[in-house]
Order: sequence, then structure tokens, then C-alpha cells
Amino acid sequence: MAEYTLDVTTGSMTHAGTFDNMYVTLIGTEGESERTNLTNFGLDDKTGKVGTYSVTSLLSLGCLLLLKLERDPFHESPQEDWFCSKIVVRTREEDETIFPCYTWLSRGETVWLRGGRATKAFEDFHPQLADQRRKELLKQKLIFKWEKYEEGMLYILNIQDPNAIPAEIRFSFSKAFQFKYLKEQMEAELKLKGLINSTEHWKSFEAMKGVSWFKKSPLSEYVSEHWKDDDFFGYQFLNGVNPFVIQRCSKLPANFAITEEMVKPFLANGSSLTAEMEKGNIFITDYKIMEGLPTRVIDGKTATVTAALCLLYLNPEKKLLPIAIQLGQQPSEDNLIFLPSDLESDWLLAKIFVRNADTIHNEFISHYLRTHLLAEVFTIATLRNLPTIHPLHKISIETDGQMELLRRGLSQTTYASLCPHENIAARGLESIPNFYYRDDALRLWNIINSFVKAIVPYYYPSDSEVSADFELQEWVTEIFYYGFLRNVDSGIPSSFQTVEELIKFVTMVIFTSSCQHAAVNIGQFDFLGWIPNGPLSLNHAPPTTKGQSSMETILATLPNKSSAGRSMAILWQLSIKYEDSVPLGTYPEQRFDEPAALQMIKDFQAELSSLNVAITKRNADLELPYINMNPTKIENSITI
Ligand code: FE2
Repeated sequence: MAEYTLDVTTGSMTHAGTFDNMYVTLIGTEGESERTNLTNFGLDDKTGKVGTYSVTSLLSLGCLLLLKLERDPFHESPQEDWFCSKIVVRTREEDETIFPCYTWLSRGETVWLRGGRATKAFEDFHPQLADQRRKELLKQKLIFKWEKYEEGMLYILNIQDPNAIPAEIRFSFSKAFQFKYLKEQMEAELKLKGLINSTEHWKSFEAMKGVSWFKKSPLSEYVSEHWKDDDFFGYQFLNGVNPFVIQRCSKLPANFAITEEMVKPFLANGSSLTAEMEKGNIFITDYKIMEGLPTRVIDGKTATVTAALCLLYLNPEKKLLPIAIQLGQQPSEDNLIFLPSDLESDWLLAKIFVRNADTIHNEFISHYLRTHLLAEVFTIATLRNLPTIHPLHKISIETDGQMELLRRGLSQTTYASLCPHENIAARGLESIPNFYYRDDALRLWNIINSFVKAIVPYYYPSDSEVSADFELQEWVTEIFYYGFLRNVDSGIPSSFQTVEELIKFVTMVIFTSSCQHAAVNIGQFDFLGWIPNGPLSLNHAPPTTKGQSSMETILATLPNKSSAGRSMAILWQLSIKYEDSVPLGTYPEQRFDEPAALQMIKDFQAELSSLNVAITKRNADLELPYINMNPTKIENSITI
């Protein structure tokens, strides 16, 4: 008689337990066990509980291949799903195999679990394993289908009914609850402050602060005090929520109508623009990508989006200051160059138009397209092509205008631009001082890369193993096809030949879905919650004259009361830390049981922990700490 002891773990989330009957059948190379009822009247299947059961067989089952887990279709209690985390099977000889499950099971549902070391398809020695692998992918491909988002845009998940997605992949119950609670709380507050439908404009910045400013963070308070400062304006291009537009300028674009005389007063004594460009002290932000986008009508007025150009100077005190702004791509008599020496309200207004362009760029390109939509492509490709036993699976404006902006953004999204070393080098920002995004992003990339460099060769010891893994090849082909529309110029590979290629690509996928998202997501409320610093819409066209504006002009240009209140509320909801957040490098789901892989995860966590200490120490000496890429704040993947 062979006896197997099973430790069955129920998930620790709310409502994970059940009172229903469960049946397990163990399948080995030498035969199958009895179909065994696990439940002692359901009492052991409460949330977070580990129940221990025994499964027997007349003869040894040989090497364990699969575990079949069934939920009884009939029961008197009301229907409730059960979340099974994992089942650990022990033999009399104390050999242990973990069968990860991490699935919600409905009444009558059956799942087939695989245990042990991760395998590639060609390593599945037994026909039953190969068969189960094929069936798992067939089922996944029926659930997760690609859908064309829009012409010229990447593909997304075809989803008619969110409830058709398996519950373990949906928003968690706790997150959905917290999100809904926050939304209701914000709505009530906006109503109370009279901000729900008010088309009125603010009378003063003090009034704006007094009424709309009901959520605060230390950083957002700093922003509300410093948003008019040139120094802070320049700082944000490096360490705000969108450090992706600025680049070194060694030659002025032909359409940026600046003369030496215009900017000379703002450069070091006796210096010239040409000399400062040669020294590498001149930088530019160019929002050409916004040119000619159709915009919405807000309160009877057509909103404007400004394809602005802004020139910045790194002064001898190492401060990055704006020295000229042109609010449009085509130079003309109406398209003036604004300078720091202009009337205070003219200069401030010009900077607000740049902040507006930068905020739109951040939300649509840097945030939505280059993290959310790309991560969706990576996820769909993973779910469709890699079975759970696969090694990689385990690591884990107006509508037309918006779409056009996303299309333009996608056409400029290259493999190199998604890898921070190459991205920063291409923009000539390797040595600009006080660029904390760069410092943290490069260190994070290196830490993730070291982890991937350890774990990938453990499963792929040679290049031939990479090229022979057809599941892996289909995975990257789908990303190339559906995420980058077969654009060879993107540099995204359509297949992998070497272990090295695979390591770089997996590093990019992890970095994009965790660190890069944190860089654009975490600071949204901090930097943009004070609406004048990050308006998503403006009510007037860019000024075409100088000397005629005032603070009243600025207040009339900024979003009205209800737009400002709503934007602030949404940014708050998106930026807070949710209770079920999982930090980078932590794997609550125990999918690995190989000691070598577990050690690699521990090393990865230790590296992240050291980086946390280093960032905290650096931040202690900064007037404005850069916290967006602290590993303790970065989530393992995108959740909001
Ligand atoms: Fe996000």
C-alpha cells in the first residue's frame, strides 16, 4: 500500500474558503490513486487554512505526473468559489512535490495541476504531460483572444464580459472594494465643496487651495508652493512623472526661432548659446508629437493642445532652468518666443502650456501606452503561449486625437527606447547632474538583469534550448505581431536565437511592467494633483501677444472648478497604495520549489533591499526626495 500526505492550502483573501466536497486523484508513471474525498465537512477549507489529508493507492504510483482536483457539483450551501493556493504532496519517504494552483474553483470545476521543476515542452517525457500541456494552452487561447484596438494601434484583450475572465486575473475583491469606497468618498467630498458641476473659474490661487485642495501629500504641498519657480519647472523634466521627453541639444531645430541675443541674458556672464551647446549645457523638450491633434470642446470652447518647444540651460550652480519657450512648431509672427524676462504672467502662462503638453504626454504616451498597453500585450502573450509549468510563466483629447497620439507614440516605441541605458544614452543624459530617475532606473535595471541572468540560464543552459522552445518562440512572435504590428524598425525581436537575447528581453518586460510604471504612476498626485502644475486641458489658445496677460488670464485659462476637482480626485485614487499591493521581487504564490531558483529570488530581494537603503539615504539629503522608484513602492506588476 502506498500512502501520500496532502497539505491543501486555501487562499488567505476574503471569501476564499468553502464547505463543498473536493476530490483528488494522483496520477503517476505507474498508475492512478483512488479518487479521494478531501473534505471533512468542509471545516478545513476556511480562508488561509492548511488542511492535511491522506490519499492511498494499492501500489506505488511511481513518479508523480499530475494532480486532478475536482469540486463536487452538488451541495446544499449557497454557491461560493474556493481559492486553492497549492497542494503539497509528501510520500512516506518524505519526498515532497508542490503543485501550485492559485485558482478560483467553481462548483463542478476540475483542474489538472502540474508539480515539480519547470519544464519546456520538449522536456515533457511522458505523453500524459504533453497532452495536459496542449490542453491547457488550448483552453487559455479560447479565453484570452487578441482584439484590434484601432487601426494602426497595438492589440488588446478581447473582452465582452469582465466576469468571463478567470477570477484570479481580475481585480481582487479587496482592491475593487477599496477603489469603490475611495470613489464614493471623493464624490461626496466634491459634492460638499460644490465642485461637481461648477463651470465657474477660480477667482484666485488661494481660493483654489482652500476649496479643491482636500487631499494632500508632503510632495504635493511642496509643488503647490514652488510650481511657479523656474528651478522647479526644470527639475520636473528630470525627476517628475515624465522624465522621458528632455534631451541634450547640440543644435537648435530649424523651426525653433531663437537668436543668440534673446537668450544671452540668461546664460553665464559673457557666454553664448553656441558655446553652452558645445559644453553640453543646453537641453530641449519638444512636443512635436502633439501637432495638429483634434481636440474636444469644453464649456463651448475648443480646447488646445500645444506642440511646444522649450529650451533649458544647466547653469553653473547645476540648476536646470528654462530660457525660451515657443508655443507651436511653426515659427511665425503669432508664434512668439517667450523668455524669463517677459511679464511675469506671460512667462508663467507659457510655462503652463508646456506643463499641459507634458502632462498629456505623460498620461497617454509614457503611462498608458508604454506601460499599461504594453504590459497587456506581454500578459496576453504569456497567458496564451506559456503553460503554467513553463519556466518563463513562473517569473513573472478627443477620442480621435487620443488615438492618433497613441498611434504616433507607438510608431516611436522602439526596443532601445524601452531599455533605460539605451534610452538615456540616446537622449545624451548620461552625465546631467541630479537626474535621480536615471540613477534609480539604471540600478533597478541592473538588479533585475542580474536576477534574470541567473534564472534564465538555469532553465536554458544553451542557445539551442532557446531556439528549440517553440512555446517561447510563439510568445515573442505574438508580442512582435500584436504589440508592435510587425514593425521591424522597432527593433523588437520576432524570435530568439540565444540565451543572451532572451535575458535582455525578459529584463525589459519585467522593468516595463514594474519599475517604469512606478516612475510614471506613483507621483501622479504629488506632481499633478496641484492642477496649475499639471493641467490636462486649457481653455484658451496659446497667447500670440506679449504684455497683455494677468493672473486673471491665467485663472481663466486653467481648468474650471469641476474639472480641477475631478482631476484631483482621480489622481488621488490612482496614486495611493492599495492594501493588496505586492512589491517588486516578492512572490506570494509559491510557484518554484527548486532550491536554486528560490536562492536566486532571495538574492534578488537582498539586492532590492540594499537599493532601498541607498535611495532612502540619498533622499534624506535632498530638498525634494525622489521616491517614485524606491523598490518598496514598486509593484511587481501593473495593477492600476
Ligand atoms: Fe497606472
